[in-house]
Amino acid sequence: MKKRDQWSSKVGFILAAAGSAVGLGNIWKFPYTVGMNGGGAFVLLYFIFLIFVGTPLMLAAITLGRKTQLSVFGAYKSIDHRWSFVGALGVICGFFILAFYSTVGGWILYYFKNTLLGTLKTTDPNILGEMFTQLMNSPKKLILYQFIFLFITMIIVLKGITNGIEKASKIMMPALFIMLIMIAIRSVTLKGSVDGIRFLFVPDFSKITMDVAMNALGQMFFSLSIGMGVMVTYGSYLNKKENILNTAIIIPVIDTAVALIAGLATIPAVFALNFEVGEGPSLMFVTLPAVFASMPMGSFFCIVFFLLVIFAALTSSISMLEIAISYFVDVKQNNRTVSTIIISIIIFILGIPASLSLGTWENVNLIGRLNFFDLYDKLTSNILLTTGGFFLCIFVGWVLKADEAVKEIESSNVTFKLAKVWSFLIKYIVPIAIFIVLINSYKDFILSIF
Ligand code: TRP
Repeated sequence: MKKRDQWSSKVGFILAAAGSAVGLGNIWKFPYTVGMNGGGAFVLLYFIFLIFVGTPLMLAAITLGRKTQLSVFGAYKSIDHRWSFVGALGVICGFFILAFYSTVGGWILYYFKNTLLGTLKTTDPNILGEMFTQLMNSPKKLILYQFIFLFITMIIVLKGITNGIEKASKIMMPALFIMLIMIAIRSVTLKGSVDGIRFLFVPDFSKITMDVAMNALGQMFFSLSIGMGVMVTYGSYLNKKENILNTAIIIPVIDTAVALIAGLATIPAVFALNFEVGEGPSLMFVTLPAVFASMPMGSFFCIVFFLLVIFAALTSSISMLEIAISYFVDVKQNNRTVSTIIISIIIFILGIPASLSLGTWENVNLIGRLNFFDLYDKLTSNILLTTGGFFLCIFVGWVLKADEAVKEIESSNVTFKLAKVWSFLIKYIVPIAIFIVLINSYKDFILSIF
């Protein structure tokens, strides 16, 4: 058998896994989803899901990968072949997520270009809003930048695992973190930001609804990159000596810290500068340039910031493409280069309607009331990832068996003190919690189709 790649160090794994988790989901999606889902109530539910569902699942995923030393499809299959459909589900999910992820990646690239040209220097919400709308109504630009984003992703993936991902993460991730903290400090010190801080952290319990729970759970899966097999696959490159227990905690901690700081960078400024918090996907694009415009050396920081976001988005998009490819290469034995190129082209084509969805194609709905962008978004976060997570915990808890998983975790000479708690969560609490929310997601999805 061919020797598989392994991470050159555990730090490499953590950076790559955190690189997958930290991306547009934290910096772009989290703040606007909080804004659209009632603020603190959403954040509270997000935390509950994170602790009781996300973190236990993260451990389950990494353990499954490390145990089987196989990418997601093979991991399920090697333990029980009837479960390989879960791997396949993840592959399909990857196509759709990357299709709309590259759309947003394209917007970021475009904004980066504009910051270089210095055209974003204003705190006027109307001008910034107008700029975003203009981009949404320029099909050529949208498709071009989406293409560039995917192209870069493809090139990095073609170069292989350790080289591309690991090296660059070591510098860029900490840099992004520091930048975000700087922006957050500026945002919370703007006059009138207190209402934003309150909106973010003080839950209004009347806002807690099944829909908010559905979006919080979906956002959590998306943000942690779980439910699709990324963490199973990345875990499979870990060698048997590594302690996986702490990695399963470090990744969610980093991911959540970045999301919260991005929330602090965006939402208080939204309140201080009189933007609209329920604005949706444009929130970051209209708010952050205004925060920069009110900062000393703002234009410079704005350039650095967009560059780092591009990087964060790439370390995530790479992980999605990697999953799709590992299926066609490891399982179907196809040529890696050819598979990578073909898959990228398919994703590009899938992504075009999503790119046009917020402008010219706003009212073009494939099915029901959803435009393509919303369709891909809902289908992936609320349906496919959550379903994938549901199967993951059933699989690890009942098919592989929680005790076996605990043995695998402890095989690197660590004692898993919370083994009983974790087993209980994975076998009962996690599947039941996901199931309850999932029923609502399916109902919501079906209703929006008909
Ligand atoms: N977690 C990434 C983000 O927050 C997106 C992402 C990368 C992802 N790989 C994934 C989401 C796999 C779900 C599944 O931007």
